[in-house]
Amino acid sequence: MTLPRATTPPLRRRDIAFDFGARIPVHWLDGHCHRTRFYDAMSIMFPEGERAFIESVQHYRDRIGVDASLQRTVAEFVAQEALHSREHVRYNRHLQAHGAPVERLERWVAGQQAFARRYLAPAARLAITVCLEHFTAMFAEQMLRDPRTLEGAHPSMADIWLWHALEETEHKAVAFDVLDAAIAGAFRRYALRTSAMLFVTPIFFTLLWRMTFQLIRHDGRAADLRGWATLLRERLVGSGSLVRMFPQWCAWFRPGFHPLRHDSRALIERYSARYDARGKRARRKANADS
Ligand SMILES: [Fe+2]
Ligand SMILES: [Fe+2]
Repeated sequence: MTLPRATTPPLRRRDIAFDFGARIPVHWLDGHCHRTRFYDAMSIMFPEGERAFIESVQHYRDRIGVDASLQRTVAEFVAQEALHSREHVRYNRHLQAHGAPVERLERWVAGQQAFARRYLAPAARLAITVCLEHFTAMFAEQMLRDPRTLEGAHPSMADIWLWHALEETEHKAVAFDVLDAAIAGAFRRYALRTSAMLFVTPIFFTLLWRMTFQLIRHDGRAADLRGWATLLRERLVGSGSLVRMFPQWCAWFRPGFHPLRHDSRALIERYSARYDARGKRARRKANADS
């Protein structure tokens, strides 16, 4: 049994243009190549990935019926993801301007999306979106909850990551609720989302680590074992680790799972205070300019 669908509170549109000025060091996370490049690899995945999330959710918009609350939430979800995509394109152009092989890695991501569009049914693509939203919510929560994940980050880069993490946490249930409303039959939905999770987990992590490796190799640091040890320690057992995510990943397989059963409201409140006023100022400025 799932919670009623209208459980995501109204989502805010915080249209903030982040500062990717030239003074940001290439290895912006505490001067550490390997730790930085793990985040940069995620950023390179986002624009294509988030476009696919929007497409797969919008495909079902007329199937979710007259539930005005869900229709509104979907529109807000699309607006948030579109802004994330825009800002990560700017982030990625900044990486490219500093020599990272961004276009080549973007082609890998685009290739996977093209494969999915060509060979997977819309329901499977929606289920994959729902799973990847669970991943982004797990990463996001670690970032918001544990300051060590971004310890030593350049403030501009911490700024975009925390903004994105806040909004991923806010909208973590939207794609799930669309799947719930659009696909008939509780067993079919359960089978779809659990098989999608088993399918997508190895693909997602293989791509993320391959891209991280390529960025590190391009920096000439592939043989830096100490750098790898730090990254692997952090990502496998430390602050941003897969081991800490594992219980939430396992929770996905409970028949009654719903993303909002994992309460993140205190985190949302804490970080909203940081970003809401900036989002409003940016909107006022845009209105005044237009
Ligand atoms: Fe996003
Ligand atoms: Fe998202």
